[in-house]
Amino acid sequence: MDEIFRRRSIRKYQDRPVEKEKIDKLLRAAMQAPSAGNQQPWEFIVAEDEEIRNQLSLATPYSKPAAGAPVTLVLIANCKDLKHPTFWQQDMSAALQNILLEAVHLELGAVWMGIATNESAVKYLNDMYQFPEYIKPFALVSVGYPDTQQNEFTDRYKPEKVHFEKWT
Ligand SMILES: Cc1cc2nc3c(=O)[nH]c(=O)nc-3n(C[C@H](O)[C@H](O)[C@H](O)COP(=O)(O)O)c2cc1C
Repeated sequence: MDEIFRRRSIRKYQDRPVEKEKIDKLLRAAMQAPSAGNQQPWEFIVAEDEEIRNQLSLATPYSKPAAGAPVTLVLIANCKDLKHPTFWQQDMSAALQNILLEAVHLELGAVWMGIATNESAVKYLNDMYQFPEYIKPFALVSVGYPDTQQNEFTDRYKPEKVHFEKWT
């Protein structure tokens, strides 16, 4: 699948909006992801408003792309009554990766910005959105049409990481 091999983190975007249809496709791709017991904990906030995106860009020192992106998705997990509560971060990761790959497919660029394991970033988003305790901020994904950087293949295959039958 070509998109897997070309996907790169794109952090700079053209001054051009992302079509509603494309945002819809990104969200549909996310919700097709596998999840533990099919529990689908994901919810999404679509942030296009400049003021909100500026606030999101301050969540961590590494979330600056949110300020310059036409759209940033806030991925949150609804952990109320989950069948398999310990799996929510894995579920969310699968959904997020689907977004990144669909973005490449749609000629967009995107970047994953981690939140869930950063206590101060979690608090920042909780304060910003006033989430109840069962809503867990997971990550931000900024999306737009790539500017200077493009999705392009870089070879990361390392044969020494592959083991046949035994680990030696
Ligand atoms: C869990 C996780 C958290 C990440 N957090 C950030 C982040 O906060 N800001 C950022 O610019 N990139 C972030 N990235 C993107 C990585 O820096 C990037 O995937 C890595 O450098 C490899 O480059 P590539 O995505 O272009 O292949 C994150 C990636 C993952 C998987």
